Amino acid sequence: MDRTAVHAAITGWGKCVPPAVLSNTDLETLTQTSDEWITSRTGIKERRISHAETSDMATVAAFQAQAAAGKDPTDLDMVLVATCSPDRLIPSAATMVQHKVGAVNAAAMDLNAACSGFLYGLVMADQMVRSGAFKTILLIGAEKLHYFLDFTDRSTSVLFGDGAGAVIVEATDEAVGLLSFELGTDGSQGEILCAPGTGTEGHVGSGEHPTVKMDGPAIFRRAVDAMGEASIRVIESAGLSPEDVDLLIPHQANVRIIDATARRLKLDPAKVYVNIASYGNTSAATIPIALAEAVDEGRVGPGDLLVFAAFGAGLTWAAVAFRWGHRVEPLGTSDAALEPTDVTALELLQGNVDAYGKGI
Ligand code: ACO
Repeated sequence: MDRTAVHAAITGWGKCVPPAVLSNTDLETLTQTSDEWITSRTGIKERRISHAETSDMATVAAFQAQAAAGKDPTDLDMVLVATCSPDRLIPSAATMVQHKVGAVNAAAMDLNAACSGFLYGLVMADQMVRSGAFKTILLIGAEKLHYFLDFTDRSTSVLFGDGAGAVIVEATDEAVGLLSFELGTDGSQGEILCAPGTGTEGHVGSGEHPTVKMDGPAIFRRAVDAMGEASIRVIESAGLSPEDVDLLIPHQANVRIIDATARRLKLDPAKVYVNIASYGNTSAATIPIALAEAVDEGRVGPGDLLVFAAFGAGLTWAAVAFRWGHRVEPLGTSDAALEPTDVTALELLQGNVDAYGKGI
């Protein structure tokens, strides 16, 4: 293996957002809420509900990222999927993606750090490339969170959505890539955002559907503190200051959390990427989807300083200061897409409604 590469660049990017849109108005038919409340308290207007599985969305995003990087599937040494909603626990979503994209030379594994998962994965991918162990890594954040939502519970059901984003992390001699990072965890607070029954503690034959439970205000306070403080620390440890930041790409959980993070950095709103209105919180997928859109919209320039920050169940948090490379145009494009469907988001939620009923 070539040990001369000392940096790891993001050379490809892609996303997959499923076609079925669930609007706030649709949610008004399922639970006691309103478009006005959701918009003003979260910034979310709509989210996607997937008819396909997590690994299908991940695969579409992967094909786009590969094309943007000009890579063949056989070039991939590792497939990493950050997810807390894999198709199955066994085998991992990453092994399914490895098969679907034809990455026959790649190792594959999932990682679960909830909403911080993509940034945990980015740090892992960077370190694996910089060690010389791997040259080309496909890193994906992908979630089908609606499966775990009780649409009678308005405190959770309005927040989350489905989707996937992917990047290619590749060895380079260019002095770009990850400058500094912080990964943190406070497992003592795991109960404030959890999905009991999703693993071995579930009772065989109980028939209960595993569901996300959350103390929203407690998460909110901790997310604002952790994302803001960790962002400042990674900028400082890179020897830079907030004025040097070209674009903050934060985890998209609540626009008020994003605004508070940006205020701590004293960033002009033009330097903050926000797409939460369209997708809600897609957990590990928010940052790679936002990154793919930011690059495609010309919001990322050659050599830009990007800061990523996230907070999620665990509790986990992460921040990364990242120097983008010289290329902001994709080398190629892919026509990969999910199977077409005419099924509406409300129709896709019928299984949840059958399990829990409606909250109105
Ligand atoms: N529609 C209408 N009213 C609602 C809704 C809703 N969907 N949800 C709560 N309310 C009501 C409450 O019942 C309460 O009413 P009351 O005053 O009569 O008691 C009122 O609105 C205020 O409720 P709060 O929970 O205090 O509202 P808050 O402003 O804190 O917003 C929210 C709640 C949006 C959940 C916010 O706390 C938040 O975004 N927290 C972070 C959540 C998050 O990011 N989770 C994901 C973490 S990432 C991961 O790993 C999955």
